[in-house]
Amino acid sequence: MRMVDLIGRKRDGLEHTPEEISFIVQGIVDRSIPDYQLAAWCMAVYFQGMSPREARDLAVKMAASGDQVDLSPLPGIKIDKHSTGGVGDKTSLVVAPLVAAAGIPVCKMSGRGLGHTGGTIDKLESIPGFRTELSLPVLFEQVKTVGVGLVGQTGNLVPADKQLYALRDVTGTVASIPLIATSIMSKKLAGGADGFVLDVKVGSGAFLKTKEEAEKLGELMVAIGKNAGRKTVAVLSAMDQPLGQAIGNALEVKEAIATLRGEGPSDLERLSLVLGAQMLILAGQETDADRAEAKLKTIIANGEGLAVFRRWVAAQGGDPQIVDDPDLLPTAPVVVGVESPVRGYLSAWETEALGLTSMRLGAGRAKKGEPIDYGVGLVIKKKVGDWVEAGEEIAKVYARSQAEATTAVAEILTEVKLTTVPPPVSPLVIGYII
Ligand code: URA
Repeated sequence: MRMVDLIGRKRDGLEHTPEEISFIVQGIVDRSIPDYQLAAWCMAVYFQGMSPREARDLAVKMAASGDQVDLSPLPGIKIDKHSTGGVGDKTSLVVAPLVAAAGIPVCKMSGRGLGHTGGTIDKLESIPGFRTELSLPVLFEQVKTVGVGLVGQTGNLVPADKQLYALRDVTGTVASIPLIATSIMSKKLAGGADGFVLDVKVGSGAFLKTKEEAEKLGELMVAIGKNAGRKTVAVLSAMDQPLGQAIGNALEVKEAIATLRGEGPSDLERLSLVLGAQMLILAGQETDADRAEAKLKTIIANGEGLAVFRRWVAAQGGDPQIVDDPDLLPTAPVVVGVESPVRGYLSAWETEALGLTSMRLGAGRAKKGEPIDYGVGLVIKKKVGDWVEAGEEIAKVYARSQAEATTAVAEILTEVKLTTVPPPVSPLVIGYII
């Protein structure tokens, strides 16, 4: 087989055979296919797409390109949750303890933040002492006793994706739906869960800005999961404004704790219930989404979710006192309010830009591996549709210095739109792909 022929087949819109997909993945891993040929192939995929069968074969072969986690030592059906990335998305911190408190073990690998989006591992590491590197036997023991464990992606997980992603990043081919779907699903498959609940974000703070694109991605990821023998559903959810109010690591942990107390922002609570309910359904514990949501609501109301969160933090070496006294979390030395110069309805937040402002304050990284500051970030005080008086506070900036705070305030004032007529408010849950 020659790579040049496979590039030509994809350029001409033909479907790769399973053997051709194996050849390509093998060539990525052993570096026998040069970058220029892989780049040309990525561009051919970008324009010609992939069938669900090709995408399934690519995801499964990529998953098998390195270590694959075997979750079978854990009892029951293991369901993973994945978000395609957004701003202020701290649902994993809420959903994991709720679902664990409902009796479904949660054993999860998560990533770090990059660019405008945050990462669950960074958020958890803002808790003093919290360790995100655990060996698999230690992680499994913790999941058996506490019900939940979450670590960073360890070992040699999907090396084919690491190489392919780096190449896509510099060849204008990141935004290919089949390449995104196979990249995400290869890592999910290698993580070993029996099923996946995928939160596909849509809007100004998401990777995909339109419902049509997000639907295509969700449909392909669900097809890959199901064709690989795993139960899979996708929820399309709005990311046209930050989820909840807090953006930034310790600020988001605080908001997740408030949500587990039943005192969180309504959109964060709602999405956490929706995603958690789908996890209970995939795990076979419930058949009806309303009943599953009601069960999780009770777990918030009776404090069981918060109790599991406290035990989880302690088990991974974190200070459990932060649960009762969130002021023990890292804080920023400078806190400045952002006041609206005019009155009107808040009609839009430029969500990706807000994520980038938070990143520049130090809450995120422009490049992989950069250090971050756990205490800094933003809290938005007004959501889309809210009325704002001139001089009213629309956000708060948490910064390392007065100069950084001043820059962020100026940026935020360009990232918000006010109108005299009430704007349409899009629904939080846009649809399900089941
Ligand atoms: N996230 C991934 O893991 N891969 C992509 O290609 C895009 C987002």
